[in-house]
Amino acid sequence: MTVYNFGSINIDLIYRVPHLVKPGETLSSRSMDTVLGGKGANQSVAVARAGTLVKHVGRIGGSDQWAVQQMADLGVDVSLVEVIEGPSGHAIIQVDDAGENSIILHGGANQSFSRDVLENHLVNANEADWLLIQNECNNLAEAFDIAIAKGMRIAFNPAPMTADVRDLPLHKCDVLIVNETEAELLSGLTDPDAVLVELAKRYPQTQLVMTLGSKGALLQSESQVYRRDAMSVEVVDTTGAGDTFVGYFLASLIDGLDHEACLNRACAAAALSVTKAGATPSIPAAAEVEALLQ
Ligand code: RIB
Repeated sequence: MTVYNFGSINIDLIYRVPHLVKPGETLSSRSMDTVLGGKGANQSVAVARAGTLVKHVGRIGGSDQWAVQQMADLGVDVSLVEVIEGPSGHAIIQVDDAGENSIILHGGANQSFSRDVLENHLVNANEADWLLIQNECNNLAEAFDIAIAKGMRIAFNPAPMTADVRDLPLHKCDVLIVNETEAELLSGLTDPDAVLVELAKRYPQTQLVMTLGSKGALLQSESQVYRRDAMSVEVVDTTGAGDTFVGYFLASLIDGLDHEACLNRACAAAALSVTKAGATPSIPAAAEVEALLQ
């Protein structure tokens, strides 16, 4: 069993600011760091750090190969990452004193996938494998199509949410992981419990997971709802917490953990991630997560 993660690789430019910049305002940052990021790369690193084999299907510009090396150093199989001409995806991230962020994305190489490229990368995948997807690369519909034809299991985290996500065959997802904003846009409802009921009606074969930030997470499987409160930690930077949750949740599910244990492990990993700066640099190792859970 292999997890194929068709996902973005971004160069994150992180600016620490006293508050998120307002319209028309010019604001000096206190510091600037350049780190590996992208919801795709972050989730691959989280799956790998949780101890599960993950092959990243991605693309990056030639001047940023250091980022691919970092993914490899953190345990991700990068044999399906292509270095192409042109700019990499990047993100301009403001992080304020409360650890909250706002992000501007530039798609770059993440938006250059054709059906042929995806078919080539997934040529050896089969029904024992998973396809993990976020929403920072182009041609998601083709990726779904290929995975469904191969009988692969699909885990989808529609982040960042866009209107065209609704046109994807979401009923074919084995696992759908959304935050509150994504859940609201998908269902048209705001109350988390009502959202779960609505999404469970629409996608009866899908395990639904909703992350609630500092309020924890919910999981609906068949007619059962599981809840987990967030752990109380000192927040330094929330960037990448959702990605850490997704990677650890999927790895735990694949490891055969029950629903509650999957939620516990993913929430603990996400809690640890917000105590450090940066997305990928803050994703904890499995031993740190186990220690917290003890
Ligand atoms: O989820 C956090 C990520 O969102 C950052 O690493 C940034 O690259 C954006 O994709």
